Amino acid sequence: MKKKIIVTGGCGYIGSHTAIELIGHNYDVVVVDDLSNSSQDTIDRIEAITGVRPTFEQVDLKDAVQTESLFSAHKDAAAVIHFAALKAVGESVQKPLDYYQNNLYSLLNTLKFQHQVGIESFIFSSSATVYGIPKALPILETHKAQRPSSPYGNTKKIAEEILEDFTKVTPNFSAISLRYFNPIGAHESGEIGELPNGIPNNLMPYITQTAAGIRDQLMVFGDDYPTKDGTPVRDYIHVVDLAKAHVQAVQRLIKQEQEQSFEIYNLGTGNGFSVLDVIKAFERVSGQKLNYQIVDRREGDVTELYASTDLAFQKLGWKAELGLDEMIESAWRWEQKYRGKEN
Ligand code: UFG
Repeated sequence: MKKKIIVTGGCGYIGSHTAIELIGHNYDVVVVDDLSNSSQDTIDRIEAITGVRPTFEQVDLKDAVQTESLFSAHKDAAAVIHFAALKAVGESVQKPLDYYQNNLYSLLNTLKFQHQVGIESFIFSSSATVYGIPKALPILETHKAQRPSSPYGNTKKIAEEILEDFTKVTPNFSAISLRYFNPIGAHESGEIGELPNGIPNNLMPYITQTAAGIRDQLMVFGDDYPTKDGTPVRDYIHVVDLAKAHVQAVQRLIKQEQEQSFEIYNLGTGNGFSVLDVIKAFERVSGQKLNYQIVDRREGDVTELYASTDLAFQKLGWKAELGLDEMIESAWRWEQKYRGKEN
């Protein structure tokens, strides 16, 4: 019998790539999404790529009644992977209550009602933002979490604290939190990828949209950081590698291999690239010059951040395999294919 996995936020960027990997590993996938920042077309695209149509449930997880009925209809699921959340850092500063309400109510309802029907495995979509300003690099999971610089980031930190408290007193319930560094790239088919709402906040979609002529010019936020070329350094990770790590984490929980009821893993490559490295790689891979200019620093940006990846390798047997060129190539393929379809 196929094991059923519930993927909340499964029409979104990382959720949809994870649904594809799960289907590829013979899991029965239920995508749950409120479609507030995604489209149901994603289900068609997942089907086109995998040949399997996941079950789709349009549910607002902030709503307890809807969440309870979702879980009573899928009591037989083996695990939940919880991606559903708002994720725009800048917007969260402007609308903190929306972020706390959305990201935390949906988490609380999911935990409560999945546990009520006996689904005792949970994977959480966290972020390296919980580290705040790093004291040492590469960052180990044991690095003390600090108050993140945005309400968005704080919802991730609070969520991890909730999971720690809940797993401590709930026998049989196990959770894994996956702290993502900078996910970029797209599925090799070019059928699914990152589709930011409005003007992108993140570097990669801003680059591909600039190259596609949707934005005039990329702004590089500061070149006076103490790094090799003055621009900040990040650990970019291919979204397909990231998706694969979720499958490994699901398997660890299902096989009850976890050593603690709440475990935390970094998901990065361990390599740092500067903003100018990414721009140069994009120009090389696409064969196209990018229009950019250096402007002032963006508030809240840290100088340098990259992961220690040893723990994920030791315990999940997972390591990122795709390099920066493959990340950029796939992101660019997705952007071009998507725009081609749009026009
Ligand atoms: N950058 C630019 N121009 C842009 C966008 C970004 O120069 O238009 C630069 C940023 O200054 C930064 C780098 O590109 O140096 C990466 O920026 P992103 O916005 O792509 O990524 P961040 O590292 O800022 O954000 C990521 C995640 C967030 C998370 C945050 C904190 O996307 O979800 O890390 O760790 F909160």
